[in-house]
Amino acid sequence: MTLKATPIHPGIGMEVQGVDLAQELAADVRARIGQLLNDHSLLLFRDQRLTPAQLARFSRGYGELRIHDLAKYRVPDAPEVTILSNILDENGEQTGFVDVGHVWHTDASFLDQPHMYSFLHAIEIPHQDGRPLGSTWFVSSARAYDTLPEAMKQRIAGLKAVHSFDSRFARHKATTGKEASRDSFKGRAPLPPVMHPVVRQHPVTGRKSLYINQLATVGIVGMPDDEAEALIAELCRHCTQEDQIYRHTWRVGDVLIWDNCTSQHIAIGDYALPQRRMLYKATVKGTAPF
Ligand code: SIN
Repeated sequence: MTLKATPIHPGIGMEVQGVDLAQELAADVRARIGQLLNDHSLLLFRDQRLTPAQLARFSRGYGELRIHDLAKYRVPDAPEVTILSNILDENGEQTGFVDVGHVWHTDASFLDQPHMYSFLHAIEIPHQDGRPLGSTWFVSSARAYDTLPEAMKQRIAGLKAVHSFDSRFARHKATTGKEASRDSFKGRAPLPPVMHPVVRQHPVTGRKSLYINQLATVGIVGMPDDEAEALIAELCRHCTQEDQIYRHTWRVGDVLIWDNCTSQHIAIGDYALPQRRMLYKATVKGTAPF
């Protein structure tokens, strides 16, 4: 297999061609993909057809997979894979997580050990008049750090931010005007807030990135609330500037992988049934940010 990687945006991401992810990958191919992911934060593979078990096998090549606390939307024969879907079954019940990620975020920053990499595979994509809907947008938080003014880099050096799971619903509602799905709360013990450095280093490349996000970052340790709120808002705005956004228009068969240490993403909720959207998701566990 000869891998070919082409940029998809000046700030983030490469499209990778020449690999069938449904097959077991040779060690050198797996390593090359891992290197591209660490260097470019986001990889796109078009025209893939993976079963959930194949997606799990591919994802497992990059670390231990997380099994979602909520069993309901796990794929039975591949429990590391969850279903994101707005489709209802014959009884009118949800068949997957719906309305997730509609605010800029990085996966599970509210955990002590946030997820390292995330994998999404598109099975059904909504359309209106032939135009695909339900896109997912990405920015590089490493580039965001690199392009901060020197004075801001000095101001935030050594700061720690507070990330809170509980803030998610209020933030979602304030930003989108809609209630978020509460599925991921059900049966779950409350999660205490956690602290992470505002500037984190990539565990493999050592590259620095801004590690704050609109969804879960609620304060800065030792800073008055109004000052912290203003600083978080300024950093979030810097990170998600319009011209830095890669807007991914999904096609059935796409696989996207991203590095949660150096990127942020947002799912665009511009569709509703009977427009159907379904994707499989897997995540690789991470370590405590430093
Ligand atoms: C997410 O992982 O935040 C959801 C992404 C999507 O549904 O496009």
